[in-house]
Amino acid sequence: MTTHWWRHAAIYQIYVRSFADGDGDGTGDLAGVRSRLPYLRELGVDALWFTPWYTSPMADGGYDVADYRDIDPLFGTLAEAEQLVVAAHEHGLRVLIDLVPNHCSDQHVWFRDALAAGPGSPERERFWFVPGRGGSGELPPNDWTSYFGGSAWTRVTEADGSAGPWYLHMFAPEQPDLNWEHPEIRAEFEDILRFWLDRGVDGFRIDVAHGLEKKPGLPDVGPDPDVTDLPYQDCDAVHDIYRSWRKILDEYDGERTFVGEVWLPTPEQSARYLRPDELHSAFNFDFLCCAWDADALRRVVEETLAGHAPVAAPPTWVLSNHDTIRHVTRYGRADTSFDMGDKRLLDPSDPVLGRRRARAAALLTLALPGGVYVYQGDELGLPEVQDLPDALIQDPTFVRSGGADRGRDGCRIPLPWGPGPSLGFSPEGAAAPWLPQPESWSALSVAAQHTDPESFLTLYRAALALRRERLVPLPESLTWVESGAGTVCFDRGPGGFRCLLNVSAAPVPLPRGAEVLLASGPLPDGTVPPDTTVWLAL
Ligand code: GLC
Repeated sequence: MTTHWWRHAAIYQIYVRSFADGDGDGTGDLAGVRSRLPYLRELGVDALWFTPWYTSPMADGGYDVADYRDIDPLFGTLAEAEQLVVAAHEHGLRVLIDLVPNHCSDQHVWFRDALAAGPGSPERERFWFVPGRGGSGELPPNDWTSYFGGSAWTRVTEADGSAGPWYLHMFAPEQPDLNWEHPEIRAEFEDILRFWLDRGVDGFRIDVAHGLEKKPGLPDVGPDPDVTDLPYQDCDAVHDIYRSWRKILDEYDGERTFVGEVWLPTPEQSARYLRPDELHSAFNFDFLCCAWDADALRRVVEETLAGHAPVAAPPTWVLSNHDTIRHVTRYGRADTSFDMGDKRLLDPSDPVLGRRRARAAALLTLALPGGVYVYQGDELGLPEVQDLPDALIQDPTFVRSGGADRGRDGCRIPLPWGPGPSLGFSPEGAAAPWLPQPESWSALSVAAQHTDPESFLTLYRAALALRRERLVPLPESLTWVESGAGTVCFDRGPGGFRCLLNVSAAPVPLPRGAEVLLASGPLPDGTVPPDTTVWLAL
């Protein structure tokens, strides 16, 4: 059976500035990625998702875009990006890029023009410039808070020094929200889509896909809001945007695709983004946030499948990304769940337990029907770096929360590739990496794991290869198997494939007569120990 590649793809997320440094400035770049394409092919993924590579002052790691049609000099040039797309294709890897339509950088020409043009100008209509409340406009226009902490509004100081209106930024002040009711914004992004589609990219990851439209009148949220009906997310008009984008994508050959960062409270809300004329897929944050508990895991898988069925969209599975606490660390904590407001970065974590569970989780995600995401370093079993000194933290959430939120830098540490001063991240003689790597990571480097049969990397390679060979051709469904309390067990078929995860505290017996295809850990005496997943042929 052949289906669209994006229905079952294994997609590897590249956080460009931390992946590999080609030019020796201590920051990852496109040359670095290009030199590692053979590694990615050998890993066995189908596609790469690049976090934003555009011109940016990097107030939010590139999610503050100053020019959507060029590459930041830190990362390389437009010509290098074009060559990288071609080279990736030659390695059998498709390319998704990150589109950031909710906001741009305060250094984008539109925002600079808007500030310069002054109050009431047409340039300001591309954003949300709104007079303040209070006697002299000294209070923000409404009570919205930024996702990064603090008010979502910043007051403008006009050219003559007077205090002006406020502008909306749901993230950092350097990320003004665009006004999607403005026809020029729509036209501009349609053109940006074509710009990159013409350059051969296979699709887009859409940043904050639920947030582009705001409720008319920008009403207050109020003290006790209904989280399913917030005025700054999931407004109905957003679906028209994706319908028009989908038409553009479908004009191009080669099965191009959209994946949405749709982070909403209910599966019903999320599913609406995946109707046949909108986005193709979305990240499964419910799964990412789920505690390490058999009932909870099974429930979230069931709800995911049930939520996607009415719109016939493929489910996806994701354990970590550049915004979350690495799951090796999460799974080693007393509370293994995650939520975006998670300020528990410093909670203690048992590294041995976390690693064992992360290996088991990898085999669970890779056995499920649908698409799967691997965040760079997942395949090496990297933990969160929890002890970055305050002075080195670069994530704007740290400063905006007054240090209460230590931010996301701990999952963005440059990858360890081998021995040497930057663990092979940069060429010899280079500047120090933009964030320091723990010394202990030399044991986790690609070189250290490459030929070790017990390593994380070996497990990921084996699992991705088996998945491609045995699971991808199967129908997009599973059959639950009752296998006792504390376990998650399902068959994929036909063909007799079974996945059995033991989350309980006691070993469970291997089913009789089953052949072990792959296991996340040792299987002593014909049993599956706690926090272990096995793939079986029945
Ligand atoms: C998304 C990105 C995150 C970024 C935010 C603002 O959530 O994943 O990294 O900070 O959008 O663009």
